[in-house]
Amino acid sequence: GRAQDLAGLRVVVSAGGTREPLDPVRFLGNRSSGRQGVALAVAAADRGAEVTLVAAHIDGEVIGEVLGGVRGRVTVVSVGTALEMQDAVTDAASGADVVVMAAAVADYRPAEVAESKLTKEAQGDRLTLELVENPDIVAGLAAARRPGQTVVAFAAETSSGDELLERARRKRERKDVDLLVVNEVGWTRGFETADNEIVVIGRAGGVAAQTSGSKREVADAVWDAVVATRR
Ligand code: C5P
Repeated sequence: GRAQDLAGLRVVVSAGGTREPLDPVRFLGNRSSGRQGVALAVAAADRGAEVTLVAAHIDGEVIGEVLGGVRGRVTVVSVGTALEMQDAVTDAASGADVVVMAAAVADYRPAEVAESKLTKEAQGDRLTLELVENPDIVAGLAAARRPGQTVVAFAAETSSGDELLERARRKRERKDVDLLVVNEVGWTRGFETADNEIVVIGRAGGVAAQTSGSKREVADAVWDAVVATRR
């Protein structure tokens, strides 16, 4: 088997995509399947960690992978909105050595949630939604982290090449995370696919890891980078 290099560590992984309700039957969401986050949780458990997976709208089948091989070492907490995710992750992070925010969190939510279904009758031929900013969960965690706690963010970027790297470096700095894992996404890449391609940016802005492969291979490369930064 693989080295138990995460033995004794408590880790939190967020995964999936938040949904922000508009009315009782509608939401603003995103295309995250949660597969990369689930792969991170399974890989951490395989390497000896005790894992809390904070899951936002992940398919039962995808979650089933967690409960399959590593039952008992992964606790799943389900959440819906960004604010619920903030509560759950902040709670779990208080005792954690490593927090990895792989979830796609809505940057904005509807300013008001309608009590009853929005109707065309009431709205007419045009509907304007007002959105308010959600808290940046991972930036808040990084600002509040204890000595020895490692905070990792993800970034899905539609740019490529040097522009992608520059944006990633700025994002790592702005959020003040230890590692930023960036992947190139688009209409046909990154989401809902089996494979992923990532670059990991470290504290000095350097490339800490770079890999492509299955989401499990990517997950192991991320944990390798986490282990290396904690040395
Ligand atoms: O700024 P951007 O949304 O690209 O950053 C992505 C990273 O920040 C991911 O790790 C995501 O989980 C996290 N995030 C967050 N809270 C938000 C938005 C994103 O923690 N409101």
